Amino acid sequence: TKRKYLIAGNWKMNKTAPDGVELIKGILAEIGTQTEVGVAICPPFTALESAAKALSEANNIQLGAQNMHPEPDGAYTGEISASMLRTFYVSYVILGHSERRQYFGETDAFINQKVLASLENNLKPILCVGETIEQREAGQTLAVIEEQVKGGLAGVDKKHAESIVVAYEPVWAIGTGKTATPEMAQEVHAAIRKMLADVLGAEAADKIRLLYGGSMKPANAAELLAEKDIDGGLIGGAALEAKSFAKLVEAAA
Ligand code: G3H
Repeated sequence: TKRKYLIAGNWKMNKTAPDGVELIKGILAEIGTQTEVGVAICPPFTALESAAKALSEANNIQLGAQNMHPEPDGAYTGEISASMLRTFYVSYVILGHSERRQYFGETDAFINQKVLASLENNLKPILCVGETIEQREAGQTLAVIEEQVKGGLAGVDKKHAESIVVAYEPVWAIGTGKTATPEMAQEVHAAIRKMLADVLGAEAADKIRLLYGGSMKPANAAELLAEKDIDGGLIGGAALEAKSFAKLVEAAA
């Protein structure tokens, strides 16, 4: 299968709504009408509505959210449901980012509920997995990733394969300027594809896009994206500036 590359920008807790609109205008000016590469941007919740408006004429950038609660509604102060996201034409939702796991105590079981709820609501989950430096040095990388992949996707139907995205983000590479080498990243991506085949079958595993994340930037993107099982990137810092983000889209084309 030829998988369409996806370059997704995770803005994290950056950009007010007006600043987000400026960034979107800049990205649109840079990438023009290209549709070869899938592009998604994931602003904070407060910038989603204005982002949706700014993208209303563009059909080559999709919107994503950075988190979601699994319940459809109810007494969950401060939380946002899938149907609320759909109102703003959100297509993707990042789930289980390492920052959520680390600072907000998210477990694989909770992330799994979110993944199931996202798929039920026609949102494409970007399930994030990745090891810490201590886990890597202790030789636990693949065991940790397997628990996160299988835990996060438990009970998922293989019919959703084309909607599922998994992002491998080694925690030690996020925001640190340290990138996994293409060989290191490919080794884990290939292992993830095998884990996906174990649970969903080889055909489904072949359709699922696997993104690399962790200090991906124009200078290192091409060699990472050239690896067989790397189907795009989940970009933090380099997604906050139109030119660098557009260069990453270009690198995937
Ligand atoms: O979700 C994005 C990742 O955490 C990567 O962030 O590109 O700033 O290292 P970064």
